[in-house]
Amino acid sequence: MKILVVGSGGREHALAWRLAQSPRAQFVYVAPGNGGTAGHPNLKNLPITDMRVLAAFAKRERIQLTVVGPEVPIAAGIVDHFRNEGLKIFGPTRAAARLESSKDFAKAFMTRHNIPTAAYQSFTDAGRAHAYLEERGAPIVVKADGLAAGKGVVVALDLAQAHLAVDQMLADNQTGGAGARVVIEEFLEGEEASFIVMVDGQHILPLATSQDHKRLLDQDRGPNTGGMGAYSPAPIVTPGIHARIMREVIAPTVHGMAQEGMPYTGFLYAGLMIDAQGNLKTLEFNCRMGDPETQPIMARLKSDFVNVCEHALEGSLDQVELEWDRRTALGVVMASRGYPEAPVTGDVITSIPPEADDLLVFHAGTAFKEGALQTNGGRVLCVTALADSVRMAQKRAYEAVDRIHFEGAQFRRDIGWRALNRKH
Ligand code: AMP
Ligand code: GLY
Repeated sequence: MKILVVGSGGREHALAWRLAQSPRAQFVYVAPGNGGTAGHPNLKNLPITDMRVLAAFAKRERIQLTVVGPEVPIAAGIVDHFRNEGLKIFGPTRAAARLESSKDFAKAFMTRHNIPTAAYQSFTDAGRAHAYLEERGAPIVVKADGLAAGKGVVVALDLAQAHLAVDQMLADNQTGGAGARVVIEEFLEGEEASFIVMVDGQHILPLATSQDHKRLLDQDRGPNTGGMGAYSPAPIVTPGIHARIMREVIAPTVHGMAQEGMPYTGFLYAGLMIDAQGNLKTLEFNCRMGDPETQPIMARLKSDFVNVCEHALEGSLDQVELEWDRRTALGVVMASRGYPEAPVTGDVITSIPPEADDLLVFHAGTAFKEGALQTNGGRVLCVTALADSVRMAQKRAYEAVDRIHFEGAQFRRDIGWRALNRKH
């Protein structure tokens, strides 16, 4: 069958690469794709981003399965549109995607359903927001209500920073329409984990656990980014914590959405904060898979992913049992110079090692131009290695990273450090 993956990042490269390995996949279109999906024999880039044009293409070409990577087309209603056109697509509807596209909706939903999350209030009036900040004190977290491409969250360590964030989001409107409302919430301490499941409206199929590294620099310093590396499994999610996340967060979310008349279908990503006592709180929902979490997760998935997606579309995820590679997968993101503020593109990339059983280089911001592979975005590659321990996977990934070259490449040296520091 023919398959379509929507998006152009490392997440989409990893999804398309895994889907293409199914014996049932004839080939996989990636729209618009990147330099990595262009260079792969079973993948084909499609230079279309308009959802109406994509749906027309999918009908004409008899695409039997579409999987959407990023949140922007989902929040714009691509799933609703494809379904209206009679096409099979895995992802949440625009209404269900409000769990990510409106932080105010997500917080109110969690409150209604007793899902653990940081205490909060939401504001459209700057004066009231400033008064609330004074009442609560720092540290405190200010979030733009809508999608802001990872730039909508300010973890303010002092009140001056928090007031500035409110002014920028509400008054200056630097985050576009997204900042017309802000959520101000309690600062949480602990360790973060990404918990991603597939949902068919009713049944929940958890994927392997993972942990991201959001800060640009080693030891979690520097500015927030889309994610500088990830590994799977995440040892912080012990079997006990796993059960609690399912019981306290995921199940009430999926059942609550169905109860409220907007059954959730698609990948559901809960960003969690877990404290030293093992208490957990939900930081955010995403209505998609994580990037770069997808890269190590897909590297470990052994089951036929086309079959899994079909069960998801038929409402029979309860019949699926996933099989995982027992090794640890660890992915190091290589980003372009200037990332995250002002990424420089157009640098030539050389010495990418070939795919091996224990090494996969997923592309994100890359493109073939003038006969050469060049940087074409902030996050460029995710170098993903598999090995029997976190330390060995880390060593294997950095051996490859050290050979790959492009001007001013930025990457962290310590991906996996929390897992390595854990006392077992
Ligand atoms: P979000 O997009 O909501 O996940 O926020 C981005 C990042 O900001 C998270 O991954 C956390 O590192 C941090 N963050 C968000 N909310 C909080 C909070 N309430 N307390 C502490 N850190 C937070
Ligand atoms: N890596 C974080 C995210 O995808 O939201």
